[in-house]
Amino acid sequence: MVVIFAYTELLLLAVADVCLSYRQARFSYLKVKYLFFTWLAVFISSWVVYVQYSSYTELCRGHECKSTIWAHESTNPPQCLCQCDKYRKGVIDGSACSSLCDKDTLYLGKCLSTKSNNQVYSGSWGDLEGVIKCQMGDVLHYVLGAEMEPRKEAALFDKPTKGTSVEKFKEMVFSHLKAKVGEQANLVDLASLVLSVADGNKDGHISLPEAKSAWALLQLNEVLLMIILQDKEHTPKLLGFCGDLYVTEKVQYTSLYGVSVPWLMELWIPSGVRRSMDQWFTPSWPRKAKISIGLLEFVEDVFHGTFGNFLMCDVSAANFGYNDKHDLKMVDMRRIVPEASLREAMRDRRCEADEDCVYGTDCRTSCDLTKRRCTPEVIQPNLAKACLALRDYLLRGAPSEIREELEKQLYSCMALKGTTDQMEMEHSLILNNLKTLLWKKISYTKDS
Ligand SMILES: Nc1ncnc2c1ncn2[C@@H]1O[C@H](COP(=O)(O)OP(=O)(O)OP(=O)(O)O)[C@@H](O)[C@H]1O
Ligand SMILES: [Mg+2]
Repeated sequence: MVVIFAYTELLLLAVADVCLSYRQARFSYLKVKYLFFTWLAVFISSWVVYVQYSSYTELCRGHECKSTIWAHESTNPPQCLCQCDKYRKGVIDGSACSSLCDKDTLYLGKCLSTKSNNQVYSGSWGDLEGVIKCQMGDVLHYVLGAEMEPRKEAALFDKPTKGTSVEKFKEMVFSHLKAKVGEQANLVDLASLVLSVADGNKDGHISLPEAKSAWALLQLNEVLLMIILQDKEHTPKLLGFCGDLYVTEKVQYTSLYGVSVPWLMELWIPSGVRRSMDQWFTPSWPRKAKISIGLLEFVEDVFHGTFGNFLMCDVSAANFGYNDKHDLKMVDMRRIVPEASLREAMRDRRCEADEDCVYGTDCRTSCDLTKRRCTPEVIQPNLAKACLALRDYLLRGAPSEIREELEKQLYSCMALKGTTDQMEMEHSLILNNLKTLLWKKISYTKDS
């Protein structure tokens, strides 16, 4: 009996011992697990912070637009690419130079850049709110159509050369514009518009540093369009410049629709969900209709105007914004190019298939397989692309009494092709019908 008791006691002790060591083992296992997860969390968050920081420092180099950086690869001896250094040396001048470099009244605020070669900052200039854009030195990495924006050359400010007379500079501007927008445009008026902008301090005289800045700016599609469309309501105003840095009007809402989410979340959202999410975050229908009329008016502004025809080569929602009155304002006009330049660029391009004949995202021509060269005529006019961008935007929430008609008109607009004279008639008919349909519906609404 005693033996049995002693045996049971021993057994119980052994079990208790096993339990204890199991508990201890489990405890240390949990400890290790927690330690591991804490370490993992710290590791991931510091990695995210590091990636964010390094992409920020890579993307946001606005101070370099002002202070000293040197370009070694493209020039020999090395050249300073900053505006203030060049301004002080008398190489460049412009309406924004003294505010940027002497008075410090041109302030670069929040960095908006998404590509390092195109620096974009929201900021202020005295009492004015504006957006400051400047081109960085690494133009060698410029992605789109380098042939249309030869920025490397422009950034060096080596033209016009010392000793160039104002008359000679006028001739330079004239022939540059002729090559860019084509001969049929009203070049004399366009050249005087350019020259009046070039005279930054409005003293009636264009100095050599002003001429150098104006020449560099003239290479940029966006600036050329800001000059050409300076009186049009949908184009942000060019407020000032210094070298090829320029200040423009700030657009309040910078996309036609949609909501921006952190990039980590963006990776997980399927594209279908993203599309419907974008359509949820839009203004009310009458407001969308007003913004859409603005886009149609902008298409009219650039279509065979006084200064030639311009092609919209990136008709995506992110390039159109609006203000608090729901007037459409262009955000990014870098890919709106003169038709003459595009034809010229396409003519020389070698191709194997139609896919090789694309400029930006939306300007497509076809590949002539016999010559293996791109044809110069674009397939789709701006209006057809604008209607495609507006389709979901306008049809969602459209009043039932016009929905069917609106859908019909949008689809016949999207089917527009080519650039022939006959298309021009059809083009203005479709454009006017669409505008009238939308206006009629919203003219009595207080939202509009
Ligand atoms: N006039 C403006 N007013 C307000 N925001 C602007 C203005 N111009 C540009 N932005 C904003 O600055 C940011 C950067 O513009 P940018 O065009 O350089 O980059 P992106 O459109 O993202 O890229 P990319 O045009 O090269 O494809 C964008 O978010 C754009 O909305
Ligand atoms: Mg853009």
